[in-house]
Amino acid sequence: MDLKQFEERKLDHIRHSLDLAHQAQGLSGLEFVQLVHEALPDLDFDEISLTSNCLGVCLKTPFYVAGMTAGHERAFQINRTLALLCQERGWAMGVGSQRRDLELQNGAGLDAWKELRDQVPDLVLFANLGISQVIRADMRDLRRVVDGLRAQALVIHLNALQEVVQPEGTPHFRGSFEAIARVISELGLPVLLKETGCGFSEATLRRISGLRLGAVDLSGLGGTHWGRIEGARAGRGSLHAEVATTFANWGESTVNSVRAAARALPESIEVWASGGVRSGLDAAKLLALGADRIGFAKPALEAALEGAERLRLWMETREFELKTALFCTGSLNCKELQAKEVRILERS
Ligand SMILES: Cc1cc2nc3c(=O)[nH]c(=O)nc-3n(C[C@H](O)[C@H](O)[C@H](O)COP(=O)(O)O)c2cc1C
Repeated sequence: MDLKQFEERKLDHIRHSLDLAHQAQGLSGLEFVQLVHEALPDLDFDEISLTSNCLGVCLKTPFYVAGMTAGHERAFQINRTLALLCQERGWAMGVGSQRRDLELQNGAGLDAWKELRDQVPDLVLFANLGISQVIRADMRDLRRVVDGLRAQALVIHLNALQEVVQPEGTPHFRGSFEAIARVISELGLPVLLKETGCGFSEATLRRISGLRLGAVDLSGLGGTHWGRIEGARAGRGSLHAEVATTFANWGESTVNSVRAAARALPESIEVWASGGVRSGLDAAKLLALGADRIGFAKPALEAALEGAERLRLWMETREFELKTALFCTGSLNCKELQAKEVRILERS
């Protein structure tokens, strides 16, 4: 791996993800989902609890910051800001792809994780690797990456569109299913599958429903779009940029992915929803559709880049919005919200 190119790519990703043109806005399906107002909730706002179970650990909220960055100095600062606040507010957190940790055989980079982990011993934290790397990885190297972070689980991210549109991408997915099954049986920690903004179809979810996964993070269409970001990186007029334009709206929406997961996955696999979630009300809608946990990526990054105070206020606001949705649907907790009626509006 060319380290310089790797670091530049990661910084490009941060920069381009903040550009609104690279968000698949209006495609999540969330604007067609409505919760039903309860004019007479038989509860006090202060009684409402957001506590939720995350892979067997009780957390104060059903929220997580989805994995974004790793492997360079800027990433370390961003992850530290996110990690301290996630621990404080009871959110779980994923780190970005640890491909660099995997490929640096001498364990370089693991000290930075140790330093971070020592500051947030109670944080529920997830390691992250792409499927193209996992297929080829040795089990000992995978363990080294996960242990270096003292992670509660390994997230394997799936990013077929991104790997194709990225000029230096690695669209090598043959053997994925067998590799995932092998890691599940040998790692000794929960394994999660995660998309990165293109979601999951019901057919794919049925194919993986027999695997002993801890959770599936659906990360559907509607937010950060890797076709668009890689297209911008590829440069105007290039083959990759033109293909990216053709595929600018590609993916399964977050709402369709959650509805498919509710039908296709067994109860033993937690359903996590991310991709275009921008408010606590969006989160409430996805919980009511059957999601167990709700993730934010780009908006959390944006707030973290403005500093800890801004991030704290951003997180508090999302929590308050979710509590408001619970109050106005007469739900004491997330479990009660999950049993409430949801209206799906017709597209005009
Ligand atoms: C700057 C940036 C880098 C990302 N890098 C990763 C990554 O390394 N691994 C991963 O699983 N997902 C990665 N993602 C995808 C997010 O986890 C998430 O699935 C996606 O951005 C959709 O959520 P959003 O619409 O809230 O941004 C990244 C997202 C952003 C914004």
